[in-house]
Amino acid sequence: ADVYGHGLKYERPPFTFQSNEWESLARERMSRESLGYVCGNASTGETTRKNGEAFQKWSIVPSRLVKTDSYPSLQTQLLGQTLPTPIAVAPVGVQRIFNPDGEIAVAKASAREKVPYIYSTAAATSMEDVAKANGDGVRWYQLYWPSNEHNDLTASLLHRAKANGFTALVVTLDTYKLGWRPSDLNNGYNPFLRSDSIGTALGFSDPVFRSHFKKKHGKEVEEDLHDAASEWAGLIFPGFSHGWEDIAFLRENWDGPIVLKGIQAVQDAKHAAEMGIEGIVVSNHGGRQQDGGPASLDCLVKIVKAVGDKIDILYDSGIRCGADIAKAMAIGAKMVLIGRPYIYGLVLGGEEGVGHVLRSLLGDLTMNLHLAGIQSVSQKDLNMDCLEYSG
Ligand code: FNR
Repeated sequence: ADVYGHGLKYERPPFTFQSNEWESLARERMSRESLGYVCGNASTGETTRKNGEAFQKWSIVPSRLVKTDSYPSLQTQLLGQTLPTPIAVAPVGVQRIFNPDGEIAVAKASAREKVPYIYSTAAATSMEDVAKANGDGVRWYQLYWPSNEHNDLTASLLHRAKANGFTALVVTLDTYKLGWRPSDLNNGYNPFLRSDSIGTALGFSDPVFRSHFKKKHGKEVEEDLHDAASEWAGLIFPGFSHGWEDIAFLRENWDGPIVLKGIQAVQDAKHAAEMGIEGIVVSNHGGRQQDGGPASLDCLVKIVKAVGDKIDILYDSGIRCGADIAKAMAIGAKMVLIGRPYIYGLVLGGEEGVGHVLRSLLGDLTMNLHLAGIQSVSQKDLNMDCLEYSG
């Protein structure tokens, strides 16, 4: 457990270890449109700001004279498996707008760092290519859920995911339409409708989508990429026609754990637990969907209290450093998804940049726990007793 093996493997890192500088460095390297998209938050950005501020209200209080002669274990258990690190790469669409290698670079870096890769339905690279790049890494599939009228398409996507070694299904519930994002609106930018179709590779390679498109428009996908991209975006962001009862369809068509992403209300968390769903991601999509909402971390506290012993709880929104990961896990998350930080790594250094961000976060987390006298990320060592609240 050589902590510097996580963080300082290279004498000369590709860019800074200072995690709160990744965003400003990446900003200098992005086009106006890509920048507007990745930094795009809902409306005034209130929810996003609250996500970050919520972490500052909690402090990790260190214990002394604890025998910590080895580095803390980062192993975590969830969804019926043991994983070597407690972070995962959050699903982020159209990764090729940040670097030409896009999803391939991220999938390779994730496998190398032993961090699960969550592949988005809005990906710019096909599932099959990503699976190949990810090799024997752990990968999960994030579904944007077409309406019931298009269950044949959903079934096809799930079938492909299973056939390509994606082991868990992450269903995102907060994005049946894209949020009111002034940065994209100002730029007149929709990454999913670009005629170079980079936001649509999953759809364009899907046999059910292809025949649906042909039937409806009387032409092949390749004959009109722009129309095809529009059609695909319409299918995966259909507005929501689903209710809790529709989860039965996913159960029938998915052999493996199901995780619901975007849960904020205690009531919804309870509903999921009562239905026997394996996991939830407490998330507000980084504040990109609904403005004026609560900090996701505040929701985590309440949800853990209500159902922490009944369902696996994952967390995202606002994680920017090792201490943030430790705080979310002390509250009761079993895993934390990393969102924007790895995208900044992708902008700054492709596969190597993503690897650097993941290693830095794990190195920072390890030293944070070690110096606080905390021996592992499991709840017996890292729990509410480690925290002090000063809201
Ligand atoms: C996202 N997110 C997201 N989530 C999802 O389920 N499917 C997706 O395709 C996307 N796409 C996406 C694009 C971009 C550019 C961003 C920044 C985010 C949300 C993502 O999975 C995660 O919930 C948030 O990024 C977490 O917040 P932070 O860590 O970015 O603050």
